[in-house]
Amino acid sequence: MESNKKVIFSGIQPSGDLTLGNYLGAIKNWVKLQEEYECYFCVVDLHAITVKQEPKDLRRRTLEVLAIYLASGIDPEKNTMFIQSHVSAHSEAAWLLTCSTYMGELSRMTQFKEKSKNSESIGAGLLTYPVLMAADILLYQTNLVPVGKDQTQHLEIARDIAERFNKTYSDTFVIPEPYIGKLGAKIMDLQEPTNKMSKSGENVNGFILIMDPPEVIRKKVNRAVTDSVGIVKYNDEQLGVKNLMTILMAITGISMGEIEAKYDGLGYAQFKKDVAEAIVAELEPIQIKINEYMGQKSYLEEIYKKGSEKANYVANKTLRKMQKKIGFIPR
Ligand code: TYM
Repeated sequence: MESNKKVIFSGIQPSGDLTLGNYLGAIKNWVKLQEEYECYFCVVDLHAITVKQEPKDLRRRTLEVLAIYLASGIDPEKNTMFIQSHVSAHSEAAWLLTCSTYMGELSRMTQFKEKSKNSESIGAGLLTYPVLMAADILLYQTNLVPVGKDQTQHLEIARDIAERFNKTYSDTFVIPEPYIGKLGAKIMDLQEPTNKMSKSGENVNGFILIMDPPEVIRKKVNRAVTDSVGIVKYNDEQLGVKNLMTILMAITGISMGEIEAKYDGLGYAQFKKDVAEAIVAELEPIQIKINEYMGQKSYLEEIYKKGSEKANYVANKTLRKMQKKIGFIPR
């Protein structure tokens, strides 16, 4: 059942419709890495309920995220795809690790500070969320975690928790490394290019959804904020243009230099048109496949059931090790 390959674990929350940021920052890299590693790709529904979810939407989105993994090219024969709540070891390990985590380190997390800023009743799950993420990763003795840049801090705390546990109870976990892709690690909002593109963004024109129809994608890119400089150049003075260039490069592989040369003297209209067409060309075939998979619920079920069988086996092995080292009586 186990191979000698190094292990990858990553996941996406089914908490909203997925964006181009999720695709370029995470999934597209997973597709590239799947041959070389033993991969676990999870739909992290336990994380999604740290904010309120409508049950029927959560159900639909959980399956849709799985369909997106498949449609993007994750091979179900070679990788383990599963739903986080189907492997109860994640919740159990999260508690054990919570007891090796400090309040101070959790309350310092940028994402927690952001999300709890304007709310009076902040769920405790928002605070302990990184511990559950650490459990996800550590249960599989993960070597590498391919994520977007926004997850760097959560990866650091996972490493700190693992090191602390190893020191307290002797070596138990592999210390995971982040894998932040060179391209698309942080796709920005099209309307506010100082902010990350996010499925919870306020302005719908700021984000592109994986499921946005081609005409919507064209409209959103056309409306993307640029500047009055009028030159396609990669620099921090032109954040809107820089972001569109990043998207184009992440999709097509064309270098920044080539993009600059190609649009020299052409202005933004042609550039935006080409960016939009590149996104459409990338996402349209995936959308067709997603819709096909969403019509094959029993096939999806087969995949997540097979996935959770393998995941349960591996995760429980680590969980038993943790319990034993802590001093719990073996069952
Ligand atoms: P989530 O669901 O917010 O995002 C899923 C993945 O998409 C990446 N991402 C982006 N990348 C580039 N540009 C963007 N604008 C952008 N927006 C999102 C994220 O970095 C992430 O890789 N806590 C995680 C989910 C998680 C997880 C894990 C990840 C739970 N357990 C274990 C790795 C390993 C999260 O909320 O991601």
